[in-house]
Amino acid sequence: MTSHLQQVNAALVVGASGGIGLEMVHQLLEQPTIHQIYATYNRSNDALQAISDSRLTQLPLDLTNEAQIATVVQTIQATTPALHLVVNCAGVLHTDAMQPEKSLRHLNPQQLSDYFLVNSIGPALLAKHLPPLLKQGDRAVFATLSAKLGSIGDNQLGGWYGYRASKAALNQLMRTTAIEYKRTCPNAIVVTLHPGTTDTQLSRPFQRNVPPDKLFTPQRTVRQLLLVIDQLQNSDSGEFFSWDGNRLPW
Ligand SMILES: NC(=O)c1ccc[n+]([C@@H]2O[C@H](COP(=O)([O-])OP(=O)(O)OC[C@H]3O[C@@H](n4cnc5c(N)ncnc54)[C@H](OP(=O)(O)O)[C@@H]3O)[C@@H](O)[C@H]2O)c1
Repeated sequence: MTSHLQQVNAALVVGASGGIGLEMVHQLLEQPTIHQIYATYNRSNDALQAISDSRLTQLPLDLTNEAQIATVVQTIQATTPALHLVVNCAGVLHTDAMQPEKSLRHLNPQQLSDYFLVNSIGPALLAKHLPPLLKQGDRAVFATLSAKLGSIGDNQLGGWYGYRASKAALNQLMRTTAIEYKRTCPNAIVVTLHPGTTDTQLSRPFQRNVPPDKLFTPQRTVRQLLLVIDQLQNSDSGEFFSWDGNRLPW
């Protein structure tokens, strides 16, 4: 890891129980200059619980519950004056009860609402509560994992209405956050990031047509994302980046 990440004292990883989030915690713990990492989980996770490191604090967080978001921020504030890095790795594509919609025939309001609650509204509420921890004079990055599928300009295939729309909404909410943070947290850089197709439970049912060289391990994905995060400039706030550092169309 390079320069900016070496100046991170305290970091928060939201969705640390997921494939990319868990690896994000592992790679941040490899950084000796980081004194404190807060990692949130929705459901408990054995692999996360198994990490034994005095720098790691694990906290429950369901992003659909605003009171819990406020509690997490207050808990962090009690021990840390400021965060230099927040990476939100939470997101939903499918569950036992929901599958991405292939056609308008499959749309139902409850499922659409569930996509928006986790993928769009939760991150926006996180952005609402984080400012006390991002107001310091030092550089801070607030990165949320989005998806290229959320790009409206790039949508040639259709389908997956709820996931696509909730990620497009996420991109707009974070762009708007970036504009407000320029006034309220001027040293915070707000971005959305496309991690690339990564071998996690989220992509597993849909990997059949992905060429092997386009399917990243979580280790590779997190290395690439941390490189992008490390190289961000203040002027990049509000932008949507791919894993290789290129900007993606809205
Ligand atoms: N994998 C890919 O190919 C790919 C491609 C493009 C974009 N992405 C994006 O990258 C991010 C990480 O994906 P992943 O592959 O690591 O997926 P994953 O392994 O399924 O992890 C998803 C994470 O989201 C958390 N989550 C779900 N609902 C939540 C809620 N209500 N509150 C808080 N956390 C919640 C999960 O927590 P629990 O398991 O504890 O519920 C889990 O930690 C997602 O935003 C995804 O959309 C992934």
